[in-house]
Amino acid sequence: GVAKAPLSKYEQDQYINDRYAAIEDRLKVVRRRLNRPLTLAEKVVYGHLDDPEHQEIKRGVSYLRLRPDRVAMQDATAQMAVLQFISSGLPRTAVPSTIHCDHLIEGTTAPQADRDNKFGGVADLKHAVTTNKEVYDFLASAGSKYGIGFWRPGSGIIHQIVLENYAFPGGMMIGTDSHTPNAGGLGMCAVGVGGADAVDVMAGLPWELKAPKVIGVRLTGKLNKWSSPKDIICKVAGILTVKGGTGAIVEYYGPGVDNISCTGMGTICNMGAEIGATTSMFPYNKRMYDYLAATEREGLAKVADAFREHLRADEGCEYDQIIELNLSELEPQINGPFTPDLAHPLSKFADALKKNKWPSELKAGLIGSCTNSSYEDMQRAASVARQALAAGIKAKVPFTITPGSEQIRATIERDGLLDVFNKVGGTVLANACGPCIGQWKRTEVVKGEANSIITSYNRNFAARNDGNPATHAFVTSPELVTAFAIAGDLSFNPEKDTLVGADGKEISLEAPTGDELPSRGFDAGVATYQAPSDGKNVTVKVDPASKRLQLLEPFKAWDGGDLKEALVLIKAKGKCTTDHISMAGPWLKYRGHLDNISNNMLIGALNAENEQVNSVKNQLTGEYDAVPAVARAYKAKGIPWVVVGDENYGEGSSREHAALEPRHLGGRAVIVKSFARIHETNLKKQGMLPLTFANPADYDKVGPFDKLSILGLKTFAPGKPLTVEGKRPDGSTYNFQVNQTFNDNQIEWFKAGSALNAMAQKAKS
Ligand code: F3S
Repeated sequence: GVAKAPLSKYEQDQYINDRYAAIEDRLKVVRRRLNRPLTLAEKVVYGHLDDPEHQEIKRGVSYLRLRPDRVAMQDATAQMAVLQFISSGLPRTAVPSTIHCDHLIEGTTAPQADRDNKFGGVADLKHAVTTNKEVYDFLASAGSKYGIGFWRPGSGIIHQIVLENYAFPGGMMIGTDSHTPNAGGLGMCAVGVGGADAVDVMAGLPWELKAPKVIGVRLTGKLNKWSSPKDIICKVAGILTVKGGTGAIVEYYGPGVDNISCTGMGTICNMGAEIGATTSMFPYNKRMYDYLAATEREGLAKVADAFREHLRADEGCEYDQIIELNLSELEPQINGPFTPDLAHPLSKFADALKKNKWPSELKAGLIGSCTNSSYEDMQRAASVARQALAAGIKAKVPFTITPGSEQIRATIERDGLLDVFNKVGGTVLANACGPCIGQWKRTEVVKGEANSIITSYNRNFAARNDGNPATHAFVTSPELVTAFAIAGDLSFNPEKDTLVGADGKEISLEAPTGDELPSRGFDAGVATYQAPSDGKNVTVKVDPASKRLQLLEPFKAWDGGDLKEALVLIKAKGKCTTDHISMAGPWLKYRGHLDNISNNMLIGALNAENEQVNSVKNQLTGEYDAVPAVARAYKAKGIPWVVVGDENYGEGSSREHAALEPRHLGGRAVIVKSFARIHETNLKKQGMLPLTFANPADYDKVGPFDKLSILGLKTFAPGKPLTVEGKRPDGSTYNFQVNQTFNDNQIEWFKAGSALNAMAQKAKS
């Protein structure tokens, strides 16, 4: 046997060996039941089933109940998740969890001469620590108290920190950020989720996922010249398009896999989010072993090595779709603008620019981010920059470098790469998301002006990076971004075009080179991790006067009776997405303050009665007012209310605020023709009643000023319809049936007032 190894250096009391033993046990059951070869994705997913014996398993059909190994949260989405966890009253999170301060840090690209610091990042970080102080203080104190590892601002980007410290082959994690799949580079099944899912797993509830389909990508050959791992995913994105991965795990296999570095595999999995994939995964191999060893986890690597038959696909397994890619023939790819699936091979890019009249003059080049800031990436980019310096030239346009973590920043500083970037005219930003998430104070281009930028990031939707919808953003590898920044023009092809050196002579750029891992090991840099305490003497810091944060009260339990004479707050007509229910944009600053953000509740929904948005009649006064104001008026009088809606109510992003807000403002039920499933579940979690018209035509029966009673709650049971009794303003009544999809567990949530209340009750008993 192999020696026991801890899950991570911060979790010395939990062992990877135990996780593997649990996976093996579950897989034995699943193999007996399915009796067929399994893909890697299936092994890892089914290896985390809550009930392997009785779980129905049909790819693309069944809903699996799973037990992830860990949770990671970024600072924007962590706020409401942690607030909800606290409201449960549970003392510690059920699985190892971490918080990462990366999204709230702004990146500036003011010219270097204006700066008092060598690195832009220093100033940006200082600024963020001041403006976000209350959020950071809250997250730090809550982390300390409830057993959540806290990575301070400046530590780096969530996905890079997870790869460096926590990801392990065969593991399963959820993260409250879409690029969580980055950890697939270490063979982890890592899925991006909403805050509600994170709360469940931290509270010890199983996590639900529709059994993913599996898309196989078979790699042969070897990358060469200017081609890099980024080009693999840019190419795959071009083939599968932004929707092609929906409901599926993309699983890479074949002899080409061993020719990609572990961090390169991370890049590929990271950007798999752009094709809508649930996640992407690579089989365990020597490259992962090397990376684990280089990040002080050789013990863990040895355990994984001994477990490797479970960390790759079975011979003869079946994929739902197969894509073949020969890396030896793969050209560098540039994707965009405005969508990540518009792939152009380098040799055809200049023509595409001309044909589509996209601005070929470059305005900025940005490298790094969670997608592409490995040591190898930085080495290859620096090798291009060095060639420019040798010829006496610099980047022609603003060129920024976002290190993915403090460890990467410190290591590339020690090894002289930051110096190269600075000399070539680059600005090193903070170890954070910065321009990638739109936290970019751009000064050289006015809003609305068409211009082109190129990044080594993953997303390039309009206005994503700088808030300017006229910015044409392209994505490619960091080495190509560097070459374009030096040329100052996107029609430049480093494989065949030349540049002019300081002496007037023409120079050609050689293909980039670079070490996969630092020969002198990583330099951890400044300590940025705060370990949890035993929690006893920690008070969680929330200023009662805060506008951004508010502690939550547990919702009230069911009173044991039917719901009597609820008012219809709004009868919504047509599309009502989670964005109509809880708008984003300027409201996001209140995401940690339920009462304040509730002022956006349903303000985008169309009122069927007057065909207006955010205008409903307050039935107590007869006056028209904003939807949240009317809801507050009913709540103040203790009058329950319901929402009536159309088809596919609550589609869109899974934001939990869309369920929390109506519950907070006194809503009790949502009665619609049909639900988007995630929103339906989120409503159940908050103790609401999501119900559907048994006969969709009954939608027309309900008048906007009727009172609705929901009958049958005393005998509430799975599969059993409920009855709604409607009372019109003239006193006449009507009845109709509504269906519900609650299971036994979820009925407990309803009775307790919320899923969290139910978990807390269970923990106490
Ligand atoms: Fe951050 Fe951009 Fe990655 S927002 S997590 S660096 S995709």
